[in-house]
Amino acid sequence: MTANMLPAKNEEYATREYWDRRYAREAEDATFDWFKRYEDVAHLLHQVLPDRTARILMLGCGNSTLSEDMYDDGYKNIVNVDYSPVVIERMRARNHDRPEMPWLVMDIRNLELEDESFDVAIDKGTMDAMMTTKGDVWDPPQQVIDDCTREVDEVLRVLRKGNGAFLYLTFGQPHFRRRYLTRPDTTLEIQQIGDAFHYYLYILRT
Ligand SMILES: C[S@@+](CC[C@H](N)C(=O)[O-])C[C@H]1O[C@@H](n2cnc3c(N)ncnc32)[C@H](O)[C@@H]1O
Repeated sequence: MTANMLPAKNEEYATREYWDRRYAREAEDATFDWFKRYEDVAHLLHQVLPDRTARILMLGCGNSTLSEDMYDDGYKNIVNVDYSPVVIERMRARNHDRPEMPWLVMDIRNLELEDESFDVAIDKGTMDAMMTTKGDVWDPPQQVIDDCTREVDEVLRVLRKGNGAFLYLTFGQPHFRRRYLTRPDTTLEIQQIGDAFHYYLYILRT
């Protein structure tokens, strides 16, 4: 990532225009992984997701290599969505030799997917992007609350009831994230990752 790809204001991370502009400026074959790469979290995913045939939804895939690395590790049943058409077109071209993996332009606040049709949904840094609108992190603006609530509503709608899991990898500490992930008829497990700077894996089970 180069400095000129940083937004002028932090809240631009919450706009589709920012992401389209950013991806359009990058080289066609550029990849970038927020926080962690697959090799850093594979051992955790193997535990949480032992079934390689599980149907997986990747929320806000960006140009991360997470999906292709998972695919090459045997998780072939991954549907990737991102609201940036620029990155979706590039990722579809980049992964032309991974034919079982679709790439769809879609907003995670309005998933055009069937109810109870996925075993697992993964969010690595995407909800975080929606949290960058201006305001107090201790008392988030209504727009942030609405966007994050809508994402989790949609995820819970498309996950199978009883044995589905929403995996959310973030730098966001539990105080700031638990409010979006506390839902009736679900359980929440939080794993801390790393020694010095901590990341968190939230596992919301249906
Ligand atoms: C911080 S990047 C994370 C990318 C990738 N998941 C990773 O781990 O490297 C956030 C991504 O989410 C996408 N995004 C943000 N808000 C979205 C929304 N409401 N619906 C779909 N995609 C969204 C952006 O276009 C961007 O690709």
